[in-house]
This record gives sequence, C-alpha cells and structure tokens, in this order.
Amino acid sequence: MAAKRRFQTVKGMRDLLPGEAGAFAQVEATARRVFTLYGYREVRTPVVEDTDLFVRGVGEGSEIVGKQMYTFDDKKGRSLTLRPEGTAPVARAYLQHDMASLPQPVKVFYMGPYFRYERPQAGRFRQFSQIGAEVIGDPGPYSDVELLVMLLRFLEALGFEDLEVGLNSVGDPECRQRYSRRLREFLEPHRDELGADSRRRLGTNPLRILDTKAPGERRLLEDAPHLREVLGDPAREHFEVVCEQLERFGVAYRIDDRLVRGLDYYTRTVFEITSGALGAQDAILGGGRYDGLIGELGGPAVPGIGFAIGEDRLVDVLPDSSRVRAEGTAPVCVIAVGSAPRAVALDLAEDLRAADLAAISEFAAGSLKAGLRKAGRRGCRWVALIGEDEIAAGTVVLRDFENSTQETIQRDEFVAAVKARISA
Ligand code: HAM
Repeated sequence: MAAKRRFQTVKGMRDLLPGEAGAFAQVEATARRVFTLYGYREVRTPVVEDTDLFVRGVGEGSEIVGKQMYTFDDKKGRSLTLRPEGTAPVARAYLQHDMASLPQPVKVFYMGPYFRYERPQAGRFRQFSQIGAEVIGDPGPYSDVELLVMLLRFLEALGFEDLEVGLNSVGDPECRQRYSRRLREFLEPHRDELGADSRRRLGTNPLRILDTKAPGERRLLEDAPHLREVLGDPAREHFEVVCEQLERFGVAYRIDDRLVRGLDYYTRTVFEITSGALGAQDAILGGGRYDGLIGELGGPAVPGIGFAIGEDRLVDVLPDSSRVRAEGTAPVCVIAVGSAPRAVALDLAEDLRAADLAAISEFAAGSLKAGLRKAGRRGCRWVALIGEDEIAAGTVVLRDFENSTQETIQRDEFVAAVKARISA
C-alpha cells in the first residue's frame, strides 16, 4: 500500500511557530499603540480584490502586476487577485465608502498577509506580512513629515537605533515625462550595454531602469541626469519643506537619487529604509506619496501618502530587547502528582489565571520526575505540585527551578505568594 502523503507548506510560504508568531504579535501591538497616538485608525480590507484594481492602481508596467500576482478566475469567470499590496485596496475603500465626506485627511493603518509570486529567498516570501499606514486627503508636505516621524517613533519603540531613511522626490507626472525624455537621450547611445529588460524599458518606462540590480547598468547610471534636477517648482518646494522639517526633527536621511520605487502610483516624496543585515537590496519598508492614485481609480483628485513595512524582514532584524519582551513571562506549571485528582490541578491553574498569571496544567505527567522534566522543557521557572498529602493538608508545593528551592504554601495563600515571587 502506498504511504500516505505528508503535506508541506506551499513553496515560498511558511508557518510562523509560537516563538516567531509571538515576535509578530509584539511588533503589531507596538504599531497599534504608536499609530493610535498619531490619530490613525485600523482598517481591514479583503485579501481578494478585483484584478483590475491592481492593474490600474499599481500599474501594468510594474513588476508586481507584470509578473508577481496570484490571479485566478472564480466560478463566475471574474478575474480576482490575492492582494500584492495594501495601498490600492485602501484607496478603493476610501472611494467605496465615501470617506471624502469625513474630515480630511483620513488616517488609517492596516496589517495582514500579502501575496507576490516571487523567487523565494532570505526575507522574500510568496505570502508575507505588511504593516502599513496611509494618510489620504492632504497634499501638503507636513503630512509627509509627520508620517515619517511616526514611522521612526515606531521603529525606535522596537529598539532600533541609527536607522537612515533613503529619500527622494519622483516629482509630478510632468516632471517625470521631462525626465524620461532626458534619461532616454542619455541611455540611447548605450543601448547595447543594457540587458533585455532595460532595453525594453527604454521604450516603455525608462525610469524603471534606475531600479536595476545589474552592476554594469548601475555603473552606467552613475553619470545619468538626476530626476531632482528637472523637478518643477511645486514639487521642488514640497521636497525642500520635507527635508527641512526632517532635519528639525533630527531624522537621519540620505537623498538617494536612484530611489524611484517599483509601483507606478508614486508622485513627489518617496522613501525606503534598508537594513544592512538583510543585504543592501532588501528594504524593510517603503512608501511615498501617490497624488494621482485615487483619480486613476475613477475618483476625484485626492492626494495621499503612506508606507508599508515588510513585517517578516522587520522581525528578522529585530533588536534583542524586543525579542525578549515578545517571549513574555513563562507560565507556572501546575502538576497533579501521583493519584491526586486532576481536577485539583485544573482548579489551581484557573485561580492563577484569574489573578492574571499564566499557567499550564499538566494532567499526564506520569511520575513526578517526568512532570518536572516536562515543565523544564516547556521553559517554566515555577512549578506547583499537588499530591495526596498536600490535598489533605490544604497546601501546595512551589518549586523554583532557577534557584533550585522548594517551599510549602497554604492553598488559600498560594496565588498571592506566587504573584509576589514572580514580580520580585
Ligand atoms: P513595497 O515596497 O512593494 O510597497 O512593499 C513594502 C515592503 O513590503 C517592502 O519594503 C518589503 O519589506 C516588504 N515586501 C515586499 N515584497 C515582499 C516579499 N515577497 N517578501 C517579504 N517582504 C516583502 C508597497 O507595498 C506599498 N503599498 C507601500 C506604500 C504604502 N506606499 C504608499 N503607501
């Protein structure tokens, strides 16, 4: 008979086991706390959207829409897509629920799973988590500044230090048209030195070539004209205010002329933070302004700005201080020893939980030794033991693994005693 098939996660997708999931929860709790301080409120949009939302929003020429979407037809033949990002869905929700009638700007944040069919590697998955925030309805640069300051406060709250923001302006559509022409003029004589992708982009969207990872092309681009040199006055003034105010807040930023971002909706301010630990090419987060997106989706000309953090990558490089907090306090293990009724362990563990102390009840310890070994392997420092003698005397034995001590405590004083010892 053939062996039964054992299943594995789908390629590029992974399980987050208890330790890891705890770190995710810790990061998410910090995001909720910090973003709420800035007046942002949480939204949750569906995982599946109309495919055209991303084709129109993120852009047909983008890598995401061109190569990376999980797209399928439902039973009625509608083309649906697992969301590859969160900004287009939030813009859709803004229009669908007439959020333009709310006081502007509308500030929201979100977190959850996103899907891109990419080649899996370190820090790159086909299902990954993002934590994002969007400010919709304010064209001015002060919203850019406040959003970036909030982002850095969040990262500081997780224990990150010395992070530098890569910053650029991709200008307004007119600036980009002007720049595309200039870049094309610059690159045309070097056409033969470009790879197939970049040659194609030279005709369609030369700006994308700035994103290239090919060393030869990067060298060539070192002498290319800069987009910032052709910004029109409004975009240039906007960028100047952003830089000036970030300096006032002591935010460390580096102007990165090659930063254009891979999604088509960006205008003016764009930014990324990369971490050395992940390799220079991998951003922990990215974002920017998208003043044309809502119009592109059939709405009025409402501007927006936001960011999304790759949570998997963030957790990967989380400072140790945050990891420790994510672990939390180990639970007290309650063991009914020998033939003592299991119900006593059940009751005692409930009493501890009622006092906000985490407790695991051990019903199948076998012997006292096996029970203690199991509690140790679970990482418990404190063990409550109840045998026939303790039941008769109305007591509980408390063992402290760390100090190798043991004491007998009255049953009705037990919870308070444990609490005092844990918080000591
Ligand atoms: P994005 O740069 O495409 O921007 O993605 C943001 C972050 O998501 C990246 O910096 C990265 O950390 C993470 N990420 C992307 N793909 C993967 C992957 N395959 N595996 C693991 N992590 C990944 C956006 O998505 C925009 N919606 C950000 C934004 C919000 N712009 C304005 N508002």
